Amino acid sequence: MARAKHQTVLVLDFGGQYNQLIARRVRDEGVYAELIPGDSSIERIRAKEPVGLILTGGPNSVYADGAPRCTPEIFEMGIPVLGICYGMQLMTVMLGGSVRSAQTKEYGKTDVELRDCALFDGIDRSTVCWMSHTDQADKLPEGFSAAATTATCPIAAIADEGRRFYGVQFHPEVQHTARGQEMLRNFLYKVCKLDGDWSMPQFVQETIEALREKVGKGRVLLALSGGVDSSVCAALLSRAVGRQLTCVFLDIGLMRKNEPEQVRAMFEGKFDMDLRFLDESEHFLTALAGVTDPERKRKIIGEQFIRAFERAAKEIGKVEFLAQGTIYPDVVESGAGQAATIKSHHNVGGLPDVIDFQEILEPLRSLFKDEVRRLGLELGLPENMVWRQPFPGPGLAVRIIGDITREKVEILKDADAIFREEIDKAGLNRDINQYFAVLTNMRSVGVMGDERTYDFTVALRAVCTVDFMTVDWARIPYDVLARASARIVNEVRSVNRVVYDITTKPPATIEWE
Ligand code: XMP
Repeated sequence: MARAKHQTVLVLDFGGQYNQLIARRVRDEGVYAELIPGDSSIERIRAKEPVGLILTGGPNSVYADGAPRCTPEIFEMGIPVLGICYGMQLMTVMLGGSVRSAQTKEYGKTDVELRDCALFDGIDRSTVCWMSHTDQADKLPEGFSAAATTATCPIAAIADEGRRFYGVQFHPEVQHTARGQEMLRNFLYKVCKLDGDWSMPQFVQETIEALREKVGKGRVLLALSGGVDSSVCAALLSRAVGRQLTCVFLDIGLMRKNEPEQVRAMFEGKFDMDLRFLDESEHFLTALAGVTDPERKRKIIGEQFIRAFERAAKEIGKVEFLAQGTIYPDVVESGAGQAATIKSHHNVGGLPDVIDFQEILEPLRSLFKDEVRRLGLELGLPENMVWRQPFPGPGLAVRIIGDITREKVEILKDADAIFREEIDKAGLNRDINQYFAVLTNMRSVGVMGDERTYDFTVALRAVCTVDFMTVDWARIPYDVLARASARIVNEVRSVNRVVYDITTKPPATIEWE
């Protein structure tokens, strides 16, 4: 879909852990940024007409075999370049200087002395920065001078103000670098001299106009899951094309308590669209009956989704456009390669094969998750929806260990609703990134009244994380856990024991299956 041309800063990705964060920080300053692999060709780079380049950090040493490099032609483009950590070392070596391995790794908050240059304009000469490196610049390329020093690193930043090339050994994008955001702002506005032409209200307006132009009188179909991305996508498309949009919500019988009703309440009467709720629970639960293997559950659910959509598509007839709530982190090509598949994640990737359509629309494709949330608010979606925690496509199926029955689904829905309610009441919902109940397949002995019971154990899971790749278990206050536990064993039948999962990821995963 055509996007209005904005001044673009390209972030060349060399595989560091903060690389997406750099692009987000740039956008926070009102400048459009895109992340592309560090070794992208000069043609690809030029095609994006960047007005500035940022070279990211990365795990390698620049001299290591196979260490990623960028094309040297970027230094001939006449545009400013900022190298961060590995990016600074790479720039140093590629322009004729050298790097050496230091005696000790410099890691964590570090005192830095800055010298005068445009990058550090208006910032105190003594400040604190976040460091994480072993190698450091040794000999500077011609035209450069040292722009910062630390106790162990005499060249902690470099500048060639004539060519507008800068490098910092520390990470301005992380919050521990006290004045990092101002350094990035200086790069964008004082070095690159940008206008700051990227904002959310403008994005909404431009995207709506572009969607209207593209869709014309055509029909658009969106699979609405009730998650943040598909909901925001639905709201945006509704604004753009109204009733030309058909949203299909499949109730697979494995959603959280009252979830289908909440999704209905969010859209019905508030957004103009053709909204269809299909109760598919019988199909899903029948197909899952007796299945215990986690991967098979996932496969079956994936297949059932496709079948359910085939049925829906027959009713809807031909549509010109299939919309998907794909967001930027889903499409960004990492400079660090691909990770191993631990679980076969469910998504709606199979839909294009069963729906008769001409083209895919992905209006959120350029946005980061926090931008999608801001957009949701801008479009009038409620706060609790845009901050909704992630929920896996296979739903409660991967939170019921062993075989799935309607009875077990009801037990889990009730226990989960209580746990979430108690977390919300304690005001912890923004501090904990994902929290839910799991129905273990274990029964144990208990006593209720004077009676012996032999009932299920519910496990509670709550995690804190930035990227959902590594997580810590949430240190929930004991009294909150106590209230949740007491309510679950009292209010949910067939449960007589509650345990709290205190495992990090890795080695555990967030979901139990
Ligand atoms: P794990 O369990 O792998 O989960 O640590 C990481 C994150 O992914 C979510 N998850 C899924 N999301 N389809 C999804 O859309 C899936 O099949 C799926 N499985 C796990 C999980 O809830 C957590 O946020």
